[in-house]
Amino acid sequence: MSSSALGADSALPAHVGIIMDGNGRWARARGKNRLGGHKQGAEVARNVVRWAKELGIRQISLYAFSTENWERPKLEVRGLMSLLAILLPKTLPEMMQNEVRFRILGDLSPLPDSARKAVDLACKNTENNTGIDLILCLNYGGQQEIVAAVRQTLQWLQSQPDQQQSLSDLNPEQFRKLMWRHDMAPVDLLIRTGGEMRISNFHLWDAAYAELYFSDVFWPDFSQQDLQLALDEYARRERRYGLTSEQVEA
Ligand code: FPP
Repeated sequence: MSSSALGADSALPAHVGIIMDGNGRWARARGKNRLGGHKQGAEVARNVVRWAKELGIRQISLYAFSTENWERPKLEVRGLMSLLAILLPKTLPEMMQNEVRFRILGDLSPLPDSARKAVDLACKNTENNTGIDLILCLNYGGQQEIVAAVRQTLQWLQSQPDQQQSLSDLNPEQFRKLMWRHDMAPVDLLIRTGGEMRISNFHLWDAAYAELYFSDVFWPDFSQQDLQLALDEYARRERRYGLTSEQVEA
């Protein structure tokens, strides 16, 4: 049975995660600098959130800046941070109109003040919106998130009277509660644009059962039709969560 046979709701992913790759190559092909590609990529991100909301997707997470991206050329890093500081306040009216709740996944502490303030403003102003959750992954790394959860687990263990027992009782559900955004749904559909087939430290825990979809399209060219192609493919997949087809059908 395909997921679409389960009805309209299960045919649609609740949480779509996107690795927005290909900005640099898109820019180079047009004789622009890399930041030109990121600017166009930010425009596409705005559109994708609107399309996702119109389709009824509940959560979308966008990998905007990884923990490894700090090692990029300084000019590019500064440019991305400025883009964030400039574009977020500008996009706020549109987020309000589309009832977008803006949230962050990642450690904001090393971000420049201007970027952090823009993020805080967007989070505070949109916190009561219920249309769609936009989770911007900023200075995010899946490995770092897991290590942080392990650190918390060790602290929690120290406070337990029977540490051996608590350790053997620990299960994935409990452990997940220590993740940075554990109120977020697990990723159902993980899209990566730009032709590479990697996860690149994105949602390592929460994409455990995500359907993976790779598109050759560079992110700045990603269209509504490309999103629909990914969703159509998702609706055709059978999600088995380790079971057999026969068990899923039963
Ligand atoms: C990957 O493409 C893209 C990024 C590392 C940044 C994504 C950022 C945006 C879409 C803009 C919105 C985000 C902010 C922070 C305002 P790449 O540069 O690795 O492309 P390439 O593989 O072609 O070089």
